[in-house]
Amino acid sequence: MSKFYVELKKVVDDSYDIEVGRNLFDTLVNDLKGELGVGISKYAIITDSNVKPLYGDKLYERLVREGFKVDLISFPAGEKSKVRATKEMIEDEMLAKGHRRDSCIIALGGGVVTDLAGFVAGTFGRGIPFINYSTSILGSADASVGGKTAVDTPLATNLIGLIYQPKKVYIDLATWETLPKEQISNGLAETIKHACLADKVFFEYLEEHIQELLEPNGIHNHAEVCEHIAEKNCKIKYEVVKQDERETNLRQILNLGHTIGRAIETLSDYTLLHGEAVAIGLAMQAQIGEKLGYVSTEEVERVMKLIEKAGLPTKLSDDMPTDKVVQKLYTDKKVRSGKIRFVFQEGIGSVKQFEDENYSIALEEDFIREIIDEIR
Ligand SMILES: NC(=O)c1ccc[n+]([C@@H]2O[C@H](COP(=O)([O-])OP(=O)(O)OC[C@H]3O[C@@H](n4cnc5c(N)ncnc54)[C@H](O)[C@@H]3O)[C@@H](O)[C@H]2O)c1
Repeated sequence: MSKFYVELKKVVDDSYDIEVGRNLFDTLVNDLKGELGVGISKYAIITDSNVKPLYGDKLYERLVREGFKVDLISFPAGEKSKVRATKEMIEDEMLAKGHRRDSCIIALGGGVVTDLAGFVAGTFGRGIPFINYSTSILGSADASVGGKTAVDTPLATNLIGLIYQPKKVYIDLATWETLPKEQISNGLAETIKHACLADKVFFEYLEEHIQELLEPNGIHNHAEVCEHIAEKNCKIKYEVVKQDERETNLRQILNLGHTIGRAIETLSDYTLLHGEAVAIGLAMQAQIGEKLGYVSTEEVERVMKLIEKAGLPTKLSDDMPTDKVVQKLYTDKKVRSGKIRFVFQEGIGSVKQFEDENYSIALEEDFIREIIDEIR
């Protein structure tokens, strides 16, 4: 009998640039002609049915004109497409179109597109490079940065996926101008989350400016607010991700509001948008946090008011019974030893750290049930 030790220790450099600006196709083309495109023979732009006519066709035509080999693959817009079947459809289409290990994916769209296309990239040919070109506020605030890729399952959101970093992220603020109003609100939930957990001054900035983005032509007329929000979101997120890419502890803080948020997003059968579900989750963690002494009554009121200013809900709807919500909480990825865990903000702009420097805490089911019943 023999025993071998396969030593595979390695140093990995997955660093990448995030470019925030307006109308970034020129920059993308220049990058692809330079270092970003080294070793790539063919590109697959992956997008959804809303973004395709707005930006996908234009990017495809531009890349063809520039002499790149490129295909455009689109799937029906919406969270319901973020499933294994769509991944398989994209993979089969890429294989049929001759994509192999020297291909690169350009994910063009919101969080659904970047989560799904990033997951395809991570497993296609055992891993090919991908680039995120983010077109939604939510995607720019959160999904396009950090390398979490996933699909949803009937049991819960984001349960199957991998951490796989993009080669570059483009955040094109000009594309926000075509977002419908409900998608502007949707995107602002993760922005409010970032302010609650990391930056009091940013929270105050949002209190002053958030409603400007919801005015008619608000995105166009308040370009400097969009830029400030995009830059703040990126900084807050990458500072956390670079310290704890694989969510061993600190990265949990980005789950603020998501324990309840994810559960109710699935329970609603995706009639609630991700940001709407997170907004309710944020409001509820603040109220539970108040009971536990982590935030004051006045701070809770400010959080609720800001969420409302962004055009987002703060309350669970009556068709979501507490029992069902509590049951769904057990599908959360933070559940450990069968216990439901929560992340809480501490005051505004900080997160509560618990024993053993842990950023989440287990709460008893009866306590959660009681408190949800009380605040709903
Ligand atoms: N990977 C992560 O770290 C992470 C973090 C947060 C959220 N997410 C995921 O992100 C997803 C939500 O992101 P989202 O709200 O961007 O979803 P989305 O991609 O479905 O975009 C929302 C809607 O806006 C449309 N759209 C996008 N850009 C547009 C534009 N410029 N003009 C007009 N319409 C546009 C889309 O077609 C879609 O209908 C969820 O699946 C969530 O789980 C992932």
